[in-house]
Parts: sequence; structure tokens; C-alpha cells
Amino acid sequence: MEVVIVPDAAAGGELIAEAVAGLLRRKPDALLGVATGSTPLPVYQALAGLVRGGAVDASRARVCQLDEYVGLPAGHPESYRSVVLREVVEPLGLSPDAFLGPDGSAPDVLAACEAYDAALASAGGVDLQLLGIGTDGHIGFNEPCSSLASRTRIKTLTEQTRVDNARFFGGDISQVPHHVITQGIGTILEARHLVLLATGEGKAEAIAQTVEGPVAAVVPASALQLHPHATVVVDEAAASELKLAPYFRATFAAKPDWQGL
Ligand code: PGA
Repeated sequence: MEVVIVPDAAAGGELIAEAVAGLLRRKPDALLGVATGSTPLPVYQALAGLVRGGAVDASRARVCQLDEYVGLPAGHPESYRSVVLREVVEPLGLSPDAFLGPDGSAPDVLAACEAYDAALASAGGVDLQLLGIGTDGHIGFNEPCSSLASRTRIKTLTEQTRVDNARFFGGDISQVPHHVITQGIGTILEARHLVLLATGEGKAEAIAQTVEGPVAAVVPASALQLHPHATVVVDEAAASELKLAPYFRATFAAKPDWQGL
């Protein structure tokens, strides 16, 4: 995997937005897997800036969700469908028809999970999947000890994740759903390019385990080591526990411009 250390979250957002723009120039109808949470917001802001400035045309791009809460009523502002529509689809000027996501309010959740995996496959697969990482090492909502071969399915959130996400629910943990639909780790690994962004000291330990620890289900993000094209973008704080940081810095500094992420 490639590890890129950037000065701050804004620089990470710009770097990844440029990579997405490059993909859209090569493949205007690319399917972009988008993540929710606070971390990816600078990516979406930078990408919207590139679109507004005419540096890239995103009008044919398609987006798909990584995960979704189960049981929030349709249209709830913190459902990930609402978040992706608000933070990605609208600012990029995409059609809501260009958007795929699992139905977290479906009466038959298992069928909704299977239908989502099938929809991703019939859409031609994800070209670039953006990922955040949980303080517990989750990707999507694949909590520790998720099968590395898992498909889209229902998962139960850890207490830590519910505490972490309570800020989106007015600080009230009782409002954070216990269950989610998440792309499985096996599903995520099928994307052609994985780009994980982590910022802040709270992610430093999870990043060190992901990048320099063994591949282990207890750190779900370590599955990125199995992917042929995985990029981990970290700010200085999130990189602070990486022993190989000097090597990662030197490698990126020496990288030819044409290579991209
Ligand atoms: P965060 O969430 O970006 O809000 O920290 C990351 C995640 O849980 O994947």
C-alpha cells in the first residue's frame, strides 16, 4: 500500500480530490464509492471547488454509499443517504439517479443487503472507494473481527463507534442506531482503487496497526494490505505512530508526477 503523509486535512482533501478528478477525466461515468463521517468532508469540498472552477466535469459521475444506519426513518438528516445527497450529490451537481445506496429502512434488511451487492456489480463495480477509519480500526462499519471475506450485511455497532458518532445526534448516544448495513470487507476489496483518509491524533494507533501491523480481522482496515491498489492518506497527527514515516515521506517526495495516486 502507498502511504502519503500530508500537512493537514485540507491538503489531504485536495490531494484526493485531484485523484478523483483525474479518474473522471479518464472515465467520466466512474462509480465513486463515498464515505460519511467528518474526515472525507475536505475531499468533497475540494472536489466541488474543482467542478465549480471548470477543472473537471462531474456531470456523468455516479456515486454509491459505503454503509447506512438501520431503522432511521427515510429522509432522516443523519441517515447516510441524506448525508451523501447533502455533502456530495448536491454540491457536485449530480442527479439523484446517479446514486446507489442500501435501503436502511427496508422491511427485509437481508434482502436489501443482497440487492445492494448485486446493484454494485451490475453497475460495473466501484472505480474508487473513499474510506475513513474508525478509532477501533473499522472500515465502512466493519467492526473488529468482521470477516475479511464479508459481503454487504447487517452489523452491530461497537459501543466505541456509537460514542464516536453521538456528535451527529446532538451528543445523545441513545439516538445512535445499534445496527447498520455495511459493504463487507470482501465487497470493499473489489473496488479498483481504495483511498483511505485519516486525520487527527485519535486515528494514529488505528493507522499504525493498519499499515504496519499484521493483516488481522481485529483491525478491519488492515485488509487494505491485501489490495493491489490501496492508498492511505494521513495528516501528521494520524501519522504520528508510524515507524516507517521517513520512508513514506521519501517515497512520495521522489514519486514521478505522472504516476498520480
Ligand atoms: P470520522 O469517521 O471520519 O467521523 O472520524 C470515520 C469512520 O467511522 O469510518
